[in-house]
Amino acid sequence: MNQPMNVVSSWTHQIENGQQPSSSDLQDHLTAVHDRNAGFTEAVAWNCRDVSGKNSYELLADIVDQKYHSNVLELACGSGVLLDLCNQRFDSRMVLSGIDISGAELKLARKRLSRTAIKLHQSAAQDLDFITESSVDVILCHWALTLMDPVVPVLATVKRLLKKCGVFAAIIDGDAGSAPGYPEINDIIYQYAQRMYPDYGVIELGDPRVRTAEGLKKLVGKIFIDSDVSIKPVILSYNAAPKTLAKESAGFFYASFVLSETEHRQMLGDLETHFAARMLNGNSYFYMPVNLLVIRQP
Ligand SMILES: C[S@@+](CC[C@H](N)C(=O)[O-])C[C@H]1O[C@@H](n2cnc3c(N)ncnc32)[C@H](O)[C@@H]1O
Repeated sequence: MNQPMNVVSSWTHQIENGQQPSSSDLQDHLTAVHDRNAGFTEAVAWNCRDVSGKNSYELLADIVDQKYHSNVLELACGSGVLLDLCNQRFDSRMVLSGIDISGAELKLARKRLSRTAIKLHQSAAQDLDFITESSVDVILCHWALTLMDPVVPVLATVKRLLKKCGVFAAIIDGDAGSAPGYPEINDIIYQYAQRMYPDYGVIELGDPRVRTAEGLKKLVGKIFIDSDVSIKPVILSYNAAPKTLAKESAGFFYASFVLSETEHRQMLGDLETHFAARMLNGNSYFYMPVNLLVIRQP
């Protein structure tokens, strides 16, 4: 990693001035964060597991049923972990493809998937005109729908691309209050971010409606009128020594990337203290709340 912290973008300039950032400010910020920290999501998400031992990539791959599905598209595929998992799990008749806006993430994905037939495209999820209507059985999206603004064109695109009986499944932020210790960790990181940008948190990345199950249900209900929609809360956990957990859990919060090197170090120290005070048999636990959204088309 080059210069992981202190990311400045037109999005941070806007919130610094108390202004609402635009969609292009958001894309500018996401691109800046991912250019410097490509692959950071998988570093944490792979280790966070539900009670049955599955991580959130596996929960999404479980949605694909080879008996009925032959074409899978991943939105915001990042470094290509989920596509890799699908490629290992399903036989060669399964057509897999992915899109993402970040050139740095796609570079990692291309390297990882270089021996496969998986097609990758640099594109925004709002703009997938090059994919044929009603051509995809399953669309997956891991940890990215919350970042997309405008999100309505993304959902409309999903609807346009899915075949009859197609499925859309996404892992998104869950209810912060449902996971032990999560609000405290969130507060530690946001207190630091707010020293630099007092409005960080008041203004967030993405469309706030996607951040709650109720908001999401209302939103998708307007677009997927006859579909079966389920939103299942899941708690993922990761246990490790406090120092490791501090570093890994901070990596999950975009707010941690705007801190200066000094503040980042101090924030990691605070997180380590937080985890060390809650040790159990030499380890501490990071609990992460997510929602698994599944939309099944009629
Ligand atoms: C938290 S990362 C998740 C990456 C990958 N899905 C994973 O979980 O390993 C979010 C990803 O969303 C991508 N992204 C954000 N907004 C996007 C958009 N509108 N269209 C396509 N990709 C987008 C980012 O470039 C980044 O790769």
